[in-house]
Formats: sequence, C-alpha cells, structure tokens
Amino acid sequence: MNSQAIVTTKSLQSIIAKIKDGSIKRIVTLTGAGVSVPSGIPDFRSPGGMYSSLRPELLTANEKQKRSMSAEPTLVVDWDLFRVNQFPYLEVRRPFILGTAKQQWKVTLAHCFVQLLHDKGLLQRHYTQNIDGLDHQLNIPAEKIVNVHGSLANAACEACGTEYPREEFCFEVKTKIKNIYDENDLEAPKESSNIRCKKCHKPAVKPATVLFGRNLPATFHKSAAEDFPNQIDLMIVMGTSLAVFPAAGLVNRVYMETPRLVLNLTMVGVDQGLDFGPFTYEEDDQVRNDAIVLGDSDQTVLHMVKELNWLQDLIPYQSYMCPNSISALNDALNELPSSV
Ligand code: OAD
Repeated sequence: MNSQAIVTTKSLQSIIAKIKDGSIKRIVTLTGAGVSVPSGIPDFRSPGGMYSSLRPELLTANEKQKRSMSAEPTLVVDWDLFRVNQFPYLEVRRPFILGTAKQQWKVTLAHCFVQLLHDKGLLQRHYTQNIDGLDHQLNIPAEKIVNVHGSLANAACEACGTEYPREEFCFEVKTKIKNIYDENDLEAPKESSNIRCKKCHKPAVKPATVLFGRNLPATFHKSAAEDFPNQIDLMIVMGTSLAVFPAAGLVNRVYMETPRLVLNLTMVGVDQGLDFGPFTYEEDDQVRNDAIVLGDSDQTVLHMVKELNWLQDLIPYQSYMCPNSISALNDALNELPSSV
C-alpha cells in the first residue's frame, strides 16, 4: 500500500499554509465508506464493493425481488423492499451487524485524522455516512459527530420506532437469520425467520440505520443548519463517491470562497461542481480553491499529516488502529530522518 502513488493538486499547498498560519480555524469533515476500507470493511460502489458482490440468488426473496436486486443492488438497503421483505437486508448485513457489535474492525488513519483535527481545536463537525461506528472508537465528542445514515450501534423497529436492546437483537440475528456467506456456520439457521418488534409485533426490527426512501436523522438537519455556511473555513471530504444525497449536497452549502479538499482513491465531486483546477472566474472575480489528494485513504492522510507536521501526533492513537493503519504509520515514522 505504501507504494501507492499520491496525486495532489496545486491548491492543496494554499490550504496547508492556511491551516498552519491559523487562517483556517473551523473544519467540517464528510466521510464515506472509503475511509473504513483499510480496516477490512468493503465500500459500496467500488469493484468488489457491497453492490457489485451482491448475490440475490442466495437471498430469501421471490423471483421478482431477486431480479430487481440484480438490476438495482441498492434495493437491498431500500425501504421499498424492506417494508415487504426484511430478509435480504438482514441476510446481507448479518456479518456486519455481528462484527460491529464485537468491535471486529478498528479505526484507520482517516478516523485518526479527524481526531487530530479535534485535538487541534479545528473540528467544527464530523459528518459520517458510515454506520460502522468506527468514528466513535476514538475520543471525538459525540456531539461533534453526525451519523448521517444512522448507526449499527442501536436497533429499532422500522415500523413504529420502538428501540430493541442491541445484545438481544444480535442474538436474534445470529439465531434467526441465515448466513449467506458461510453455509457451514453452525450457529446460523438454514432458513431465516422473522425478528418481531416487542411493541407492534411487525417483523421490522433492524439496525437504526437509514434506508433509501427514509428520512435522515433530525440531528443531520439541525447540525447542518448550524454549520453551513458560516461556521466553516474548510470542508474535507474523504472516502465517499458523493453519489448519495442529501449528504453529498453538503459540499454545495459552503460559501464560494470556502475551499473543499477531497481525499479519495478515485476522482469524485466534479459532478457536484468541485473544481480542482487552480483558476479564477475572471468575469465575476469568484475563486474556488478546491483541492484533491488521490490515493488510498491511509496514504492520503499520511501525506496531509506530514505536510502539516502532525505525523508524530498520530502515535498516541496507534493502539486504536487496524493492522493496515498501524503498519502504514510505522512505515511513515521509519522514513523520518532520525534526530541526533
Ligand atoms: P461508495 O462506495 O459509494 O464510495 C466510496 C468511495 O471511496 C469511492 O469513491 C472509492 O473510490 C473510495 N475508496 C474506496 N476505497 C478507498 C480507500 N482505500 N481509500 C480512499 N478512498 C477509497 O461509499 P459512500 O460514498 O460512503 O447509504 O456511499 C454513500 C452511501 O451509499 C452509503 O452511506 C450507503 C450507500 O448506499 C445507504 O445505504 C443509505
């Protein structure tokens, strides 16, 4: 991973300089599945991600539903399907639900970068589209984190909203939902059966995450109204395709002169109007100073922290990190010139 090429744009230098000289004081971050990839959790839309590896034929669904999921894999996390058949969602998400409860995955350098922004007094708010809970494994205050698409940390009935104790929910998932990834799993049943709400008795209990077609949590709208546009000097976007709204729309709620910095494996954001060329709109004298650092998120973060002289500040967080991030950080530390 260390040999991965890092590509940056010219405007990055002006952003780094402004963080260093204190003219950037308030930073908002928006993250997506790409920041958790080094920890071993696949994203959604990359080759090998959740959507391209979906196998509808293994799921408990009728033929029409299977055909629809083959044509449009996002249906598996859509209210339209869940309200009539809960099994595809629960079967696909089974290992993720059980794994997050055991804290199977650990934070990456991108999560630690957000922590560093907080430690330096620069973090205005952290908007995460991720439901894996990794953002909460560090010491970022909960009120600074907005779980835009909810979280696996809680379970509730999607029909009536009644909460379901997490441990009990995990037990139900383990014993009632079949394991499509391992047919020899002795703990899993061969056929899935319903997990019913204790209050309304509908079989609609699921993690408290947002399905397509459902509303975002009120905290998203409240925090965004507080932050955008005037509480932000820089927006950092990491590991997201910016394909899903309203989260992706946040990039267009900053002032024209507020730079947006993207750290991502692939080029994203151009469709949303991000402009990575350092140029001026001469007619109206408006400047967009967006920047992109292309590469694996551990490596792009290392590039940033080295530029900011913050590399050593990551050391206290090493014990929280996933193995890939630990070794990426060690490699970077070993490359530092040794002091005499
Ligand atoms: P996507 O899978 O759409 O995008 C992940 C982005 O991360 C892509 O642009 C990848 O190129 C990039 N990426 C992958 N691996 C990376 C790595 N190691 N380092 C850096 N970047 C990497 O995931 P999201 O944008 O998070 O919503 O998806 C947004 C929403 O769509 C999710 O919250 C989920 C999904 O459907 C719901 O389920 C409602």
